[in-house]
Amino acid sequence: MKILVTGGAGYIGSHLCVALAEAGFQPVVLDDFSNSRPAVIDRLAAIIGAPTPVAIGDISDAAFLDRVFAEHEFAAVMHLAGVKSVAESCRLPLLYYQNNIGGTLSLCAAMQRAGIRRLLFSSSATVYGAAARSPVREDAPLSAANPYGRSKLMIERLLADLVAAEAAHLPVWRVAALRYFNPVGAHPSGLLGEDPLGTPNNLVPYIADVALGRRPHLNVYGNTYATRDGTGIRDYIHVMDLAEGHVAALRYLLRANDGGYFVWNLGTGRGSTVLEVVAAFVRSSGRSVPCVMAPMRPGDVAESCAHVGRAQAELGWRARRDLDEMMADVWRWRSANADGMR
Ligand SMILES: NC(=O)c1ccc[n+]([C@@H]2O[C@H](COP(=O)([O-])OP(=O)(O)OC[C@H]3O[C@@H](n4cnc5c(N)ncnc54)[C@H](O)[C@@H]3O)[C@@H](O)[C@H]2O)c1
Repeated sequence: MKILVTGGAGYIGSHLCVALAEAGFQPVVLDDFSNSRPAVIDRLAAIIGAPTPVAIGDISDAAFLDRVFAEHEFAAVMHLAGVKSVAESCRLPLLYYQNNIGGTLSLCAAMQRAGIRRLLFSSSATVYGAAARSPVREDAPLSAANPYGRSKLMIERLLADLVAAEAAHLPVWRVAALRYFNPVGAHPSGLLGEDPLGTPNNLVPYIADVALGRRPHLNVYGNTYATRDGTGIRDYIHVMDLAEGHVAALRYLLRANDGGYFVWNLGTGRGSTVLEVVAAFVRSSGRSVPCVMAPMRPGDVAESCAHVGRAQAELGWRARRDLDEMMADVWRWRSANADGMR
C-alpha cells in the first residue's frame, strides 16, 4: 500500500518513512528539499533495504501534484511539508501563510481531483496557546500567538470544514490532525536525525552543538518557574515513537470508509525540565554542556505536557522510549555527523 509523505525528506518525515516501511507500507517521498538534503534518500535506502521513490517539487504546484497522483495509487497522504520556525514566522508571515496554508489547500484540491480522501496532518501543541493547563487534552480551547501557530490552527479548521462539507456525500474525507509535542531523538542507526540549516531553533540540537564545541554555552530561558528546578517543563517524545504514532493513526484511518475528523495528541504525557534534558545529554555524551541563565521569554509557559489518554485508547499506541534513549540516539547521530548530511 503506497503512502505519500509530503516533507518526507525532513526530520520527522524521514523517520516516518522508516516506520512506514517497517509496518509494511511503501512510502513515497514528496519534497522540494528547501529544508532537507537529497542525501537523506540514500540513508533511507540503507536503513529500509530498498529504494524509496521520490517526487521532487513544491506542494503549491498543482500540475506537479497531478503528475504525482497520476503516477502512483496512494491509500493515504501524510502531510508534513511546511515551514516551522516561530521566530521566522513573525518576520515572514506571508511565507508561512503561503507555504503552510496555501500549500495545504493546493494539496487537498489535488487529492480531491485524484479521489484520495485519507489525510494525516502534522499539527502542533502550539495550537493550545499559552493558557492551556498541563496535561492538555485534545478538547482544550485553542489559540495561537504567532503566524506559525495560526497557520496550524487555520489548517486544522479548514480540514474540519472539508470533512463537514463532504459528510453528506460518498466517498467522504477521513482526516486526522496529529498534535506533536516536542519531537527529539534520532534513528538508532545514527544515519538519520535532525539536521537544521543554520542556528537551531530547538533545544536539543542546540545542546548537541554546545557539546560539540560549536557554541560556547546554552542559554536557559527562565529558572524561576514554579517547577522542580525552576526551568520550563516540556513533553519530549522520541521521533521514532512519534513516527510509530503516525502509523497507528494511519491504520485507524484505513480501518473504515465513513468520514470523520480526528485529533490526537502525540506526546509521552511525562515532562522534563531543561536542566533534566541537559543532564541526560551529558550522561549520554560524556561531554560538558555549560549553561547560562537568561530571562524568561515572553509567551513561554512553565509546563506543557500532553494528555495521552485518547491516543492510547483509540490508536492502541503509546510512546515507549525514555529521555536517556532520546539523548543517546541524538548523540550517536550528531557525533557521527557533526555537519549533518552536508
Ligand atoms: N520538529 C518539531 O519540533 C515539530 C513540532 C510540531 C509540528 N511540527 C510539524 O511537523 C512537520 C515536519 O517538521 P520537521 O521538523 O520534520 O521539519 P523539516 O523542515 O525537517 O521537514 C519539512 C520538510 O518539508 C519540505 N518542504 C517545506 N515546504 C515544502 C513545500 N512547499 N513543498 C515540498 N516540500 C516542502 C522541506 O524541504 C523539509 O524536508 C512540519 O509541518 C512542522 O510544522 C514539527
